[in-house]
Amino acid sequence: MQSIYMDHAATTPLATEVLEEMTVIWQGPGGNPSSVHAFGRNAKQQLGRARDRIATQLHCSPAELIFTSGGTESDNLGLAGAAWAQRKAGRDHIITTAIEHHAVLHAVDRLEEQGFRVTRLLPDASGAIVPAQVIEAMNEQTALVSVMLVNNETGTVQPIEQIGAAARERGILFHVDAIQALGRLPLRLREMPVDLASFSAHKINGPQGIGALYVAKGTRFEPQLLGGPQERNRRAGTENVAGACGFARALELAESRRESKRERMLQLRQRFLELLSDLIGRDAFILNGGSSEQVPDILNLSFPGVSAESLLMNLDIEGIAVSGGSACSSGALSRSHVLTAMGLSEQLAGSAVRFSFGLGNTMEEIEYSAQIVATLVLRIRTTA
Ligand SMILES: Cc1ncc(COP(=O)(O)O)c(C=O)c1O
Repeated sequence: MQSIYMDHAATTPLATEVLEEMTVIWQGPGGNPSSVHAFGRNAKQQLGRARDRIATQLHCSPAELIFTSGGTESDNLGLAGAAWAQRKAGRDHIITTAIEHHAVLHAVDRLEEQGFRVTRLLPDASGAIVPAQVIEAMNEQTALVSVMLVNNETGTVQPIEQIGAAARERGILFHVDAIQALGRLPLRLREMPVDLASFSAHKINGPQGIGALYVAKGTRFEPQLLGGPQERNRRAGTENVAGACGFARALELAESRRESKRERMLQLRQRFLELLSDLIGRDAFILNGGSSEQVPDILNLSFPGVSAESLLMNLDIEGIAVSGGSACSSGALSRSHVLTAMGLSEQLAGSAVRFSFGLGNTMEEIEYSAQIVATLVLRIRTTA
């Protein structure tokens, strides 16, 4: 039986080059970057080089990067760090959207429990946030705006430029969850109207358990993890040196092939949709977010009359790994908050499956998967 992985928005396989670079560190003498002896100095140098390499790729200063344990921590730290610092300046209002990842949504919920006022904006029917609505929600008490760059469920690219520019004019900090944008969109942080941005290595064929938070120079920021003086006193804890080096290598690889990958992903997407249309008819599925700008490798499809849970389980039996919406906790699917916010009915949201392609996927796999999806959809529809 084939084994086909089509869930790259969840995580990606580790690139061989990344593993090799990390293995060298793990097999080396080791050392704590905070130690003053030669072992420590060596580890510190490795960490510093990794930070420099990531900063080069992201077009920012190395001092503007804080290493974290991944995307969730970057989001939590970015939001709390900026919100509490702004609170000291008398600002206690946060604007975010209903389509953010739970790492943002739940972090904002916590800030609300702690006394911040929160405005949560809905997207339009295509899944895009409307900048004018965000700008309208801004006021003199607004501390922070948080809007993601690429949605992890629909692949929709959000219009952050206009939002960021308006925030800047008003002294409001702007946080962007750029976790799904990394390796997909060009990111020149220095030129973007963004104060804080979150990244995660395992979405770009890097290791799990390492991420980064960009905090632009001069941004008010309150550390959340307390302890040692690591990361310029902004995030205590012994750093993940091998992870940071793996992240740097993964990002260099991702950037070097970003354009060629995009072309390939477009071809895979087109072929998949074309074949599916031929086999079950264009009316048998809905491309969620299809009328907004989307990255090519995240494809969210609703199959009316088909339960996503059945489709997912049957695809798994056939060796094809995909995801339903994004929320899959303890093996159970819950209705996608993103699709619900876009106004999809319960039935359509409950029939949505996310296919996310990656570097390892071949055209043969795409064609085979489209055929299996078509067979299963027809079968499930007739037995439902
Ligand atoms: C948009 C977005 N934000 C945050 C996260 C959380 O990142 P991590 O898995 O590295 O904690 C993810 C991961 O799926 C994501 O897609």
